Amino acid sequence: MKTSVVILAAGQGTRMNSDLPKVLHPVAGAALLHHAMRSAASLEPEHTVIVAGHGADQVKTCAEEHSPEAKTVLQLEQLGTAHAVLQARPELQDFDGDILVLYGDTPFIRPETLAKMTAARATADVVVLGFNAADPGRYGRLVTTGNTLKRIVEFKDASAKERAITLCNSGVMLAKASGLFDLLDQVGNDNAAGEYYLTDCIEMARQSGQSAQVVTCDEAETLGVNSRHDLAAAEAAFQTRARKDLLENGVTMTAPYSVYLSYDTVIGRDATIEQNVVFGPGASVESGALIRAFSHLEGCHVAKGAVVGPYARLRPGAELAEAAKVGNFVEIKNAEVGEGAKINHLSYVGDASIGAKANLGAGTITCNYDGVMKHRTDIGAGAFIGSNTMLVAPVRIGAQAMTGSGSVITEDVAEGDLALARAKQVNKPGLARKLFELFKKRKAKSDLETK
Ligand code: UD1
Ligand code: CA
Repeated sequence: MKTSVVILAAGQGTRMNSDLPKVLHPVAGAALLHHAMRSAASLEPEHTVIVAGHGADQVKTCAEEHSPEAKTVLQLEQLGTAHAVLQARPELQDFDGDILVLYGDTPFIRPETLAKMTAARATADVVVLGFNAADPGRYGRLVTTGNTLKRIVEFKDASAKERAITLCNSGVMLAKASGLFDLLDQVGNDNAAGEYYLTDCIEMARQSGQSAQVVTCDEAETLGVNSRHDLAAAEAAFQTRARKDLLENGVTMTAPYSVYLSYDTVIGRDATIEQNVVFGPGASVESGALIRAFSHLEGCHVAKGAVVGPYARLRPGAELAEAAKVGNFVEIKNAEVGEGAKINHLSYVGDASIGAKANLGAGTITCNYDGVMKHRTDIGAGAFIGSNTMLVAPVRIGAQAMTGSGSVITEDVAEGDLALARAKQVNKPGLARKLFELFKKRKAKSDLETK
């Protein structure tokens, strides 16, 4: 069965107290909306429609960043979840498969759970995702017999007996597109909130002879974000789960609770991550690599057996080949570091390519920016860059070439050559001793005068 996804994201998110639309707030380096879109992607949806209201332009841009083909429709007034889903109808006019309704502020629905829902569609016309709430609070309650769902009652409209039900509505729903829109057309707003409730379509479906069923998931999956507290709790929940997954996949973490991961961090088996390492989006680390304490990695790739840190920073486009070493206080950006190459101390390497087994001494800097444009530095295999060399890009250092410490290299150096670009040393015999004596006399004189 083909599926299309409708993601509700028109709410203001008042309790976030923010200028940013709620669904754009990030968890683990990705907007809440992207998390919802990622869950939905597991169903390979034919269409993805985002229902936006507050900050619709920003929401649209964000949705298209994730999938350029995603459509954003506008819900001018937030009249309720049923009204919200109806706004997607024009985009799904010719679609005759299933519609999955998700909320943009509920980031953790697992693909496995969506698969359970699609499987349940074989025996039910409408499938609703429920969860057993530790504290059911103001969630809608699912009135059931066995797995059969009879109706959903909103907290505001529920009787004391219904409020005692702990099986709650997550808001995720799966139903045939044509049937769903027809039902939603009939939903009214004669209820405690004066809203058009999506949840009303269950009772209506049953009255028209359709069947409804509940699939349950862990409460953690339905965690929704309504405030900064929720956002922080969502981040913590993500981190806990991601760390656990990594440990289970064979990654060694000395202090897992101090390692921060992004939604897309990939770390291979037998890699070791020491304390206080932060992964921004787009980082991947292969098997057996060692990421030492206090390193920050983002948009980079670290191959097998490479060693990073302590205190290293890998920025977007940093590509470390096997067994490369990037040591303390080294920053790498948009640069390939070849197999077994070493950049061990206090360096900046940006817009560069470093050949295999090259060695960059302490304090090597690629001067990649002239104030207007960025330029590249190429260093050949086995080259030796003396400590404190400034490589003024664009510049090429040949394989097996050397630069003298403290050089400012502005011209290419051919393979096997040595470049010295610093003032020549002059020694003055005995001059240091004479200067010391002179300075001491001066000091004694000034001490006398100030007494
Ligand atoms: C809804 C459900 C409730 C469920 C709960 C789970 C209804 C009537 N109630 O309640 O059964 O337990 O979610 O969290 O569906 N939205 C729009 N346009 C609107 C209204 C809402 O886009 O006009 C969006 C919101 O931005 C939000 C989502 O839909 O992402 C849910 O809306 P919200 O008002 O939070 O619903 P609840 O009252 O929490
Ligand atoms: Ca809500």
